[in-house]
Amino acid sequence: MASVTQSAVAELICFNPECRTRYDITDVLYNCPKCGGLLEANYAYADADPARLKRLFRERRMSNASLDQSGVWRYRELFPFLEDTRHVVTLREGNTPLLDGPLAAQYGGLDRITFKHQGFNPTGSFKDNGMTAGAAQARRLGMKRVACVSTGNTSASMAAYAAAGGMEALIFLPHGKISFGKLAQSVEYGARTLQVEANFDQILALVRVLAERLGIYLLNSVNPFRIEGQKSIMFEMLDQLDWRVPDWVVLPGGNLGNTSAFGKGLREAKALGLIDRLPRLAVIQAEGSAPFEHYWSRGGEGAFEPVSAPETLATAIRIGDPVSWPKALFEVRTTNGLVEKVTEQEIADAKAVIGKCGIGCEPASASTLAGIRKLTASGVIDKSAEVVAVLTGNVLKDPDYIYKYHTGELEAPGGTKIKATFGNRPIVAPNDPDRIAELLR
Ligand code: F0G
Repeated sequence: MASVTQSAVAELICFNPECRTRYDITDVLYNCPKCGGLLEANYAYADADPARLKRLFRERRMSNASLDQSGVWRYRELFPFLEDTRHVVTLREGNTPLLDGPLAAQYGGLDRITFKHQGFNPTGSFKDNGMTAGAAQARRLGMKRVACVSTGNTSASMAAYAAAGGMEALIFLPHGKISFGKLAQSVEYGARTLQVEANFDQILALVRVLAERLGIYLLNSVNPFRIEGQKSIMFEMLDQLDWRVPDWVVLPGGNLGNTSAFGKGLREAKALGLIDRLPRLAVIQAEGSAPFEHYWSRGGEGAFEPVSAPETLATAIRIGDPVSWPKALFEVRTTNGLVEKVTEQEIADAKAVIGKCGIGCEPASASTLAGIRKLTASGVIDKSAEVVAVLTGNVLKDPDYIYKYHTGELEAPGGTKIKATFGNRPIVAPNDPDRIAELLR
């Protein structure tokens, strides 16, 4: 098996265009020590042959080698930050399908919609794509302990990859503000789990201090290697489309790591000649947690204003101070994309429609279809456009939300009842064939 860095020299570089200071790829850094900017991995590719790469990625689908079977490491030439692959921990992440949803297309005002369903990942969310890469870097650096703050999916994923890779996982969660399914995962995978009485943004600040003080490796999406792994979501999507570029890629925005990763991956794919144009990125936020949408609608100028008390039932994206906003802004602009926000009711109904397609997803993921419906209604997205909506998490992540929606018990933050537009209440039936037959007439 070829070493992943044979064709490239890797380094870390400050994302701030006025700084651009370079650092060694093995430096343990999350922000630029000089200016505080975000860091990203950068590669000097020797000679990339796009036709050869496409052939190689396709051939690997027939291989039984673990790295080739991973829907992340299959594309390893496109994030060559490791000197060799012995540190990789893979649970065969990625390999997530493209799915048609005719009912959802109709609801979204489109002729056709394609869902890239990241909920098919081993721990049920797109975080696995990034975590396999972050965990590999942690092991390469000899880290024994890894930590994250999470709205639930990062923690579930980190707990699994730390366990599989023989590292101790320390998890910090906003107490009472994550779904039970996600909390259960981190406990089951053996992570030390702390439920802190604070919100995501406050806990991230806390964990950064602790990581520094205790020498623990931070695996939030501020970690540039997480972003490298998450690029593979776009590579796999393009590979599955035979490298045809869709018009739009629509995704939810929380801490904005995924937006940063998608943009970087797409830009790099274009620079390497794998594609000849970029899809437009449409980032959708929940109305009560939409600092990026506020900033975007003010022209993306001046100071970025966090939302101090973010609220949404889509707890995965309940984030008021997204760390990666400078990267995300750059990527959305580069792709001629946009940022939109949707209400709790819009998310809930879109989610039920995705369910009725036989697909299902968690609340944050459904913001994509809600956003598409809004953007086709306003004429921004064309009815005939080729649209890929990225469903970020599995339907079983938040069963409590589902049950409450379908029984008309779901309440938005502040107490407004969510209407069960597509409600499907389970029926309590007596043990009596006649009466059941009557009920089913
Ligand atoms: N969708 C789901 C299901 C998520 O879990 C998240 C983020 C997002 C969308 C937003 O992605 O942060 O890259 O913009 N969840 C994080 C977590 C914050 O801790 O699991 P983003």
